Amino acid sequence: MTWRASVLTLFPEMFPGPLAHSLAGRALAAGIWTLDPVNIRDFAHDRHRTVDDTPFGGGPGMVMRPDVIDAALATVVDDRPTVYLTPRGRRFTQADAQRYAAASGLVLLCGRYEGIDERVIDARAPEEISLGDYVLSGGELAAMVVLDAAIRLLPGVMGAADSATEESFSQHLLEYPHYTRPAEWQGRRVPEVLLSGHHGAVAAWRRAEAERITRARRPDLWDAYRAATPASPLASATAANAHVASPAGAP
Ligand code: ADE
Repeated sequence: MTWRASVLTLFPEMFPGPLAHSLAGRALAAGIWTLDPVNIRDFAHDRHRTVDDTPFGGGPGMVMRPDVIDAALATVVDDRPTVYLTPRGRRFTQADAQRYAAASGLVLLCGRYEGIDERVIDARAPEEISLGDYVLSGGELAAMVVLDAAIRLLPGVMGAADSATEESFSQHLLEYPHYTRPAEWQGRRVPEVLLSGHHGAVAAWRRAEAERITRARRPDLWDAYRAATPASPLASATAANAHVASPAGAP
């Protein structure tokens, strides 16, 4: 069954953009997913094809009209999740990407200007999703990010090699460092254990590195990992070392 993406935007010509290339592009060409860019302006009902107006109460910028957005949504909504890309939304995660990939597709609503009239958000109750704490000039690039993250999880899109990476992120750990030939470059050698041919030692080193990097860079992920994996090798080794190194009685 084909996974269907409908994107409501004032800039339909931005799509598929980067999604026409690489993994997502090959999957699009193979018919694993389809893309239906919907021009919001086609649903304006005046001579000037007006989609926005000045905000009630005053203030800068323009607000997208609820009647126009609603008419556009009415042509595409079905059993697929509807997602409104906005910096005020809940932070997008890998778990969302997995949930969207498991659905029959997505309806993505891209805002421009100051935002969209609140009443159509209330009436249609889309999921409000943000990429992070920064403001993009519109939802289009965010929609592409969400699509890319979901599409690579669709059956038949990724090879088995990539699935392992996926698993590691869902297990709350950042990636371990990667190396390829040459074994020495500008005086820097690849860690010896990776040349040893000892699969168990390689796996242990990678796990320890992933833990070290996660702990140093992402205390939030580290805490989630520790809560989910109480007996991880580094966690216990670190605890043991801390115990040895600490003065007696110190925690
Ligand atoms: N639209 C504008 N900024 C955004 C963000 N940070 N995430 C998602 N959509 C947006």
